[in-house]
Amino acid sequence: MATVLVNNKPVEIGSDRLNCIQAADRAGVEIPHYCWHPDLSVVASCRMCLVEVGDKKPDGTVAMQPKLVPGCQTPVKDGTVIISDSPKVKAAQQATLEYLLLNHPLDCPVCDQAGECGLQDYSFEYGRGYSRLQEPKNIKPDKDYIGDQITLFTDRCIMCTRCVRFTREVSGTAELQVSSRGSHEEIDIFPGEPCNNKLAGNVVNLCPVGALCSKDFLYEQRVWWLKSKK
Ligand code: SF4
Ligand code: SF4
Ligand code: FES
Repeated sequence: MATVLVNNKPVEIGSDRLNCIQAADRAGVEIPHYCWHPDLSVVASCRMCLVEVGDKKPDGTVAMQPKLVPGCQTPVKDGTVIISDSPKVKAAQQATLEYLLLNHPLDCPVCDQAGECGLQDYSFEYGRGYSRLQEPKNIKPDKDYIGDQITLFTDRCIMCTRCVRFTREVSGTAELQVSSRGSHEEIDIFPGEPCNNKLAGNVVNLCPVGALCSKDFLYEQRVWWLKSKK
């Protein structure tokens, strides 16, 4: 039986084709991630899932790769060794979150995603707790008409591109795109082509932060006041 070692804990994966995030999940270990989604293509762009990876040889020795690798893009096999809790990995997680928060507005008190936000949760769990940025933040204007039902708080976006890939790979309508580059890159629609396909509302749910919001729900409720129904 194929076995993977996750933070020294063996986990059997059988003949399943898994990446490091999925294998670690089977061992009860969370590898934080933003851009990866099991039903979308892999872009490995957010760097939140960096881990140490190596191979356990038949003679019992372990050869680790010299650099951190994105767990979402790295398949596992029998003998794969994954380390997600080393000082090197923790330093990378802190650096990634500090980068993602550089220009982030931190308007959690008025953000619909607060309470179920991937950026809040990972910052609390894996973040450094402070920013070293001293320059003014690069504030991008919001786009209140991405679609009839969707609004974009541009400066809350972490550019994971889940929404873009959804419209290309699932709805097949490709209304969303990345415009500009570097710290100026933004999610946008093509001129005159709003995101109004019949699956469009799903991008709000796919967005790991409070960037894409549903106009129906906007400022209506706090998530901790909602009750789940079966
Ligand atoms: S996206 Fe998350 S971290 Fe950013 S303002 Fe909203 S709740 Fe806060
Ligand atoms: S709007 Fe949301 S889903 Fe789209 S790239 Fe930004 S953070 Fe990701
Ligand atoms: S989840 Fe792996 S790089 Fe984004």
